[in-house]
Parts: sequence; C-alpha cells; structure tokens
Amino acid sequence: MDKIIVHGGHTLSGAVKISGSKNSALPILAAALLTREPCVIHCVPDLSDIHYMLQILSHLGAQVERASGTVQIQAENVSTTAPYEIVRKMRASVCVLGPLLGRHKEARVSLPGGCVIGDRPIDLHLKGFRALNAACRVEAGDVKVFAGELKGSTMNLEGRQGPTVLGTGNVLMAATLAEGITVIEGAAAEPEVVDLAQFLIKMGAKIEGAGTRRITVEGVKELHGAEHSVIPDRIEAGTFLVAAALAGREVTLRRVNSEHLNAVTNVLSESGFQLNIQKDTITVKGNGAPRPVDIITEPYPGFPTDMQAQMCALLSRADGQSSVTETVFPQRFMHVSELKRMGADIAIEGATARITGVPKLSGAPVMASDLRASAALVLAGLVAEGTTEVHRVYHIDRGYESIDEKLMGLGAEIQRVKQSAST
Ligand code: EPZ
Repeated sequence: MDKIIVHGGHTLSGAVKISGSKNSALPILAAALLTREPCVIHCVPDLSDIHYMLQILSHLGAQVERASGTVQIQAENVSTTAPYEIVRKMRASVCVLGPLLGRHKEARVSLPGGCVIGDRPIDLHLKGFRALNAACRVEAGDVKVFAGELKGSTMNLEGRQGPTVLGTGNVLMAATLAEGITVIEGAAAEPEVVDLAQFLIKMGAKIEGAGTRRITVEGVKELHGAEHSVIPDRIEAGTFLVAAALAGREVTLRRVNSEHLNAVTNVLSESGFQLNIQKDTITVKGNGAPRPVDIITEPYPGFPTDMQAQMCALLSRADGQSSVTETVFPQRFMHVSELKRMGADIAIEGATARITGVPKLSGAPVMASDLRASAALVLAGLVAEGTTEVHRVYHIDRGYESIDEKLMGLGAEIQRVKQSAST
C-alpha cells in the first residue's frame, strides 16, 4: 500500500485544473444500462471508484471502452446480478439497481457494507422501488428487486438524516421507464443529481424539478443513447480551496462551477480569506491564521459533509475556538484522532468537533481511514512543521485524481512512495 510523504512549510501558488465529479460520474455511468444504444461520457475522472464501476458494468455484460477522460458504454444485453466480489469494493455500486430495475424489471446486487463514516443503509432506495410497484428482498447478503411492471406514484424519500443522494438517483433512473407519473418528494437537490437528470433527459427521459426537493418524472417506453460531459468535482475543488487557504500565497482553480461551491466559499470568506470568484474559476489568497467559524454540515445547498474533514484541518490553525457539527454522518470524525497526533486541539462532543486553534501543527506518521479524512491529513501536512507520512493512500485514490501531482504543481513538497502490501 502506497504512502504519501509531505514536507510542510512550502507555500502554494499557481493554477490547478479540477477534474470531473466522481459523485456525478458514478450514477451517470450506471444510467447507460437503461438503453441498448451507445452512450459517450466525457470528463470522467481517473479514479479507482470509477474503475470499479466500469468493472461492474463490464461484468454485467456492457461493452465498455475508456480513452483518457471519455468512456463509451453500450449495454445491449446485460445480466442483472452484480456479485459481492466487485460490489464489496465500492458501496456506490448500489446505483446499478435502479437502471437494471427500470430496463429489465429485476436486479440482484450484493448489499453494500458499512464504512468508516458510518452505517450506509439503503432502506430509502428500497422504499422508492416499492413505491414503483417493485418487490424488494434481502437474501444471503444480496438485495433483490423485481416487478411485473413498474408503476409511477408519489413518494417521499427523506430519511432521519435528510434526503438521500444516491437513493434519489437510483429511484429517478427506475422511474424514467415506469408507467405513468412519479413524484419524488424529499428528493436530494445536489448538483450531482441535477447532472444525472440532465443526462437522462438527453436519453429521452421526461424529468422536471431536478435540483429541487420535488422531482416529477413521466415514464417513457424506452431511452436512447446520449453524449454528456460530467460537471466539475465540487469536493475536489473545495479541497484545493482549503489547501490554498492553509498554505497558499495565491492559487487559482480552473474548470470549476463556482455556483456549486457557495457554502464553502462563504465559510472561507467568513474565516477571513480573500476570494476572487468567477463563473468557472476561483482564486484564493492565503493570509495567515484563519478566523474561527462555526459550521454545520447539511444537505445541498448547505455546507457539504464531504468538506467537513478538510475544514477541521483548516480550523486547527484558526486563532480561536471553532465548532464543526456533522448532521449527515454523525460519526464522520475518523480524521480527528489523526489530526490530534499532529498537535491539533479537538474535542468531540456527540456530533460536534470543538476545535481550539493552535499556532502550529507537527508532522507525524498518520493513517488514512476514508476518502475525505485522508485528504484532510495531506492538507494538514502542507502546513505542519516537519514531515507527515499518510499511510494507506488508496483511500485518497478513490476520489482524487493525482492529488500529489496537482499539489506538487502548486509548489508543495510531496511524494508518493510505493510500499509492499504488508504495510
Ligand atoms: C453520497 O452518498 C455521496 N457518495 C457521499 O460522498 C456523500 O457524503 C453523501 O451522498 C451525502 O452528500 C456518492 O455520491 C457516490 P446519502 P450516499 O444516501 O448517497 C442516510 C464521498 O466522500 N440514508 O445521501 O450514499 C445515510 O446513512 C462520499 O465522495 C439512510 O438512512 O449518501 C446518511 O446518514 C462519502 N437510508 C444520509 O442518509 C438510505 O437508504 C445521507 O446519505 C440512504 C441513506
């Protein structure tokens, strides 16, 4: 397992290009199962999670070709079972259920396990499928969904922790081929759901209200192939904004959709950073210690849970007391113990991290645990005194395309070291 070594104290400057969105590309690639015609998807990031999704689609029988950032998929004849040995690698595989149910009226997918950020149930996905007249059963670790015919209806997909992003996408994909009208209330309004809906509409689906909490679908008989470019990754962009705030002189992000980052840029402005925000670029200037802020993670357009760990790293250097409250994944604080190894002063009280800024962080060997926690540790290493070794960086590679090379391009002293499997 590789590790990333960061030598702190180097200021960042220059420009970095943001890749296509992982969380948009994954359901869009799955949506190609809804038609027998070829689909062409551009700006697909080169990530292990994307690799796993392409493996699943191939295993199901789709023809998959990838040429740099473009993927061509043709699912003429596909099976409807996604096996454990592939699904276990990535819980987002669950988003093949909806398109398989829509196209073939049946699907069998291994139940996704939990992960370090908390339990990852799919009860809301199944609630939506049942509302479309499908039967859902859990058998031997697999979830089976099947229907004689899919019938549209009105449903509410909001759970105790708010809306479900992949659940909204899953049910939306099935509803495009259900008979009649489907209304999804309590829908997720994330930009990734909007991007999926845009792709489905290009395939011939009839969808209104994507990006609001109420989405209406009029079922059609079949969908055709389409071509689409995935939106920029707002979480990768937010991660680089925090890197620049922590260690920057002046950094410009290119190929962003700045509208998708309002909650993050608002917090950085409140914390005292100067931002020059244009439609598809954002420039941020580092200017020493951040001002303390209080953050609550919320569904879009609120502050994203996927930026919570990165903000904990930034606020560890603030000149005062901050608080970060997690309402989407209340246990998502695996990064805190590792940041404390670097000298951060953080106390967890329930779903809130109370952060007392410290004048400096110290480099240390730390362990990556999940995708965004790993990124937060690399960011902390940029400003820590001495050297930080982040182990098990396969977590980072799931969601960041060449993060070490992109940071090196901005002036960071960072390197990836291949390690034997035993470590
Ligand atoms: C998506 O996960 C993202 N992943 C996550 O990003 C992101 O953190 C999350 O949305 C929230 O924004 C992808 O898009 C591939 P949810 P998803 O269903 O859809 C509960 C990253 O770092 N819930 O919106 O799986 C759930 O436990 C990843 O890129 C149910 O109770 O998340 C959570 O508390 C991490 N029942 C809340 O809802 C369900 O059936 C939101 O989960 C589904 C979810």
